[in-house]
Amino acid sequence: MNTYLQRLRDRMAVEGVPALFVSDNLNVQWLTGFTGSSGYAIVTPDEAVFITDSRYTIQAKQEVDGLEVVWFQRPKTFEEFLTENLERLGVKNLAFETSVTYATWKNWTDKISSVEWTASPDLLKPLRMSKTPEEVEKIKEACKVTDACLQHLTRMMQPGVSEYDVQLDLEFFIRRSGAEIAFHPIVVSGENSARPHGQATEKKLEVGDFVTLDLGAKKDGYCSDITRTFVIGEASDRHKEVYGQVLKAQVAAVDALKVGSAAAEPDRLAREILDEKGLAKFFGHGLGHGLGRAVHDFGGLGPNSKDTIAAGQVWTIEPGVYIEGFGGVRIEDDVHVTDKGPEILTHFPKELMVLG
Ligand code: GLY
Ligand code: MN
Repeated sequence: MNTYLQRLRDRMAVEGVPALFVSDNLNVQWLTGFTGSSGYAIVTPDEAVFITDSRYTIQAKQEVDGLEVVWFQRPKTFEEFLTENLERLGVKNLAFETSVTYATWKNWTDKISSVEWTASPDLLKPLRMSKTPEEVEKIKEACKVTDACLQHLTRMMQPGVSEYDVQLDLEFFIRRSGAEIAFHPIVVSGENSARPHGQATEKKLEVGDFVTLDLGAKKDGYCSDITRTFVIGEASDRHKEVYGQVLKAQVAAVDALKVGSAAAEPDRLAREILDEKGLAKFFGHGLGHGLGRAVHDFGGLGPNSKDTIAAGQVWTIEPGVYIEGFGGVRIEDDVHVTDKGPEILTHFPKELMVLG
């Protein structure tokens, strides 16, 4: 029994959607279990069909759970095959996901006129945001990989080691652990650490540098995303003050992830705490984002977020302070919201660590 399919059908019934064409690859993976790069689903109250092409027939038969698997072969086109299946299922009104490109949407609507196409933005958003225990377990497995990776890297980070070397070891560790690299990792030191999304360079770590590592692993389709900032050699009073305030804001924001509260509230609180030391003006990005099959999954924790915190959600909490000419600090954890309070899934220590 595919519970994801059941949840989608329940939501379609509530929203009055008679048939949905699922085209977003991560939505398809979430719904069907298929891990390939090309698959689509048509879901109606009584039927569910998974469409792929001949590259994926064996894989789809093994992976797809609870949907009829069909595939097209050339010279038939995807659009011809889709039309045949829509007619077979008696679909007259088809909701589509608005994440498709304009060119794709135009192609489909030009070539498939047997149905009325209706835009259905974000139908899966609340479903993807509310993780099942099975999904949370997978995120935990990904978090274990990045926790261990950070542990490993603390042993090699010292003056003279380049940002590139750290990045290479980081990626090697994740791959050797049987996971994928969830996103291009960030390794920035010294003045470079004031770039929130800076890239690793040939610069060598030096005494007195902040070093920020932001990394993610993907295991069984689910991501982790963790950031830690270290100091090389010796921490100055300014290092300690900035780090301590970011940590205070981060801990308070995690605690503020309470069921029923506005998603903008932990961000507001983090900024208030940073401002105790005049640091809020150096915090330009939002506090965090949803985490799941995508690193930046549905939902945001920024000041303008309209989301509401609910049990089952998984968020990153990642306040940062970036001071040009000095350096930056970001501390990021992955947090599962439960009725009993926030459950932190990333376990690497957060106290300021001096390395080398
Ligand atoms: N870890 C990268 C980001 O959250 O943007
Ligand atoms: Mn993040």
